[in-house]
Amino acid sequence: IAACVLAALEGYLLGSIVFGILISKLFCHDDVRTHGSGSAGMTNMLRTYGAAAGAATAIGDVAKGAVAVFIGEWLFGMLVPQFEPACGAYLAAIFAAIGHMKPAWFGFHGGKGVLVCGGAILALQPLVFLALVVIFLIEFAITRIVSLGSIIIAALYPILTLCYWAWNGAEPATLVFIGICSVIMAAMVIYMHRSNIQRLREGTEYRFGEKKK
Ligand code: G3P
Repeated sequence: IAACVLAALEGYLLGSIVFGILISKLFCHDDVRTHGSGSAGMTNMLRTYGAAAGAATAIGDVAKGAVAVFIGEWLFGMLVPQFEPACGAYLAAIFAAIGHMKPAWFGFHGGKGVLVCGGAILALQPLVFLALVVIFLIEFAITRIVSLGSIIIAALYPILTLCYWAWNGAEPATLVFIGICSVIMAAMVIYMHRSNIQRLREGTEYRFGEKKK
């Protein structure tokens, strides 16, 4: 239990360092959440302040997801070596996403969790990360809509991650745990996109390169 609590806590603390909010406040003397979609993620940073702010946010968010996973894995390896360390990593990843989406220090209003989960996936399964990036880029090249790509890759993630772990000979209990964690991560990310889903249904979602209607 101590290992689970520690992995969850470090995940939440790292996740709640929301780079979009910090960068917009420190360097732009503004709050990105008052612009565009209201999200503190890379897409809204890019849309509001340009490429450098978007890139810096992306790097920070991916890095914290990856670091949360490494610490979660390390904690499990040290405190409960009888368990698969990846379970600590997945637990940390879920809480890093929660911290990013609902940061206590920033009024529980953060980003949508795509890149923090991306960082966690990159650290855990670089091949799955690569496959998701390729799928996202194909979608984006066709539609120029970021949110649709995010929703598609979130929905595909549990399937790809389970294939990856099954292929690598994970124990059935580990597969069940990882399956549940990956579905939770995907569901959280898709839930955070509910206003995007509404706009997609209405045909009003923002497309990059398109002037505002
Ligand atoms: O990662 C967030 C992206 O999928 C959508 O962002 O700002 O267009 O709601 P946004």
